[in-house]
Amino acid sequence: MRAEDWDERYAERQQWSAEPNAQVAALLADLPPGDAVDLAAGEGRHALWLAGLGWHVTAVDFSDVGLARGRAQPGADRVSWVTADVTTWSAEPASLDLVLVAYLHLAEADTTALFTRAVGWLRPGGRLLVLGHDVENLTAGVGGPQEPGILHSVDRLAPVEALLDVDRLEQIRRQTPAGTALDTLLWGRRPEEMPSSGGSVSA
Ligand SMILES: C[S@@+](CC[C@H](N)C(=O)[O-])C[C@H]1O[C@@H](n2cnc3c(N)ncnc32)[C@H](O)[C@@H]1O
Repeated sequence: MRAEDWDERYAERQQWSAEPNAQVAALLADLPPGDAVDLAAGEGRHALWLAGLGWHVTAVDFSDVGLARGRAQPGADRVSWVTADVTTWSAEPASLDLVLVAYLHLAEADTTALFTRAVGWLRPGGRLLVLGHDVENLTAGVGGPQEPGILHSVDRLAPVEALLDVDRLEQIRRQTPAGTALDTLLWGRRPEEMPSSGGSVSA
């Protein structure tokens, strides 16, 4: 979907819960606050929640209408809101403690390129959290985009896994009012020393 399509969606009504995703909250709630980027932040539910925990958060999304919903929330002045295409936007190398990417679905090559760059924005020990719809959700789950080429899987995230010390890379279940949805979770840390094949992450 293009930015204009997302703008139209967000103009109609609030799209997502104001609460953080339960898996995101469980993994991040007890981390010491630092510098974070929420990529494809949408209405900013995660950015706002992190800012409330003391994080310095930049929320990036190409839908200015989506971000405007976040900017209208209490505590929004604690978040930096950036309207940009995440495929071209960049943070400074080694400047972040956390990159969060929840339910962003791009073509596989764009996904790998973005997440590879995102690892380069992390300080050593900094965390990458990716959560999104799993490709098996099409046949064994509910909701989410229906184009197989843009969905995640453990196999599709393997090139990013190779750049990280990975705590979790797995398919997980999420209960929704419509039934069980299948997500892919990647949760890892930038190593102290990057793998030699990972030279491109510094960009
Ligand atoms: C399903 S929403 C998820 C929003 C948010 N991460 C959340 O979990 O509430 C997907 C978001 O990705 C954004 N998006 C999609 N492609 C993008 C791109 N290339 N650059 C920036 N944002 C993008 C859309 O505007 C939309 O807000």
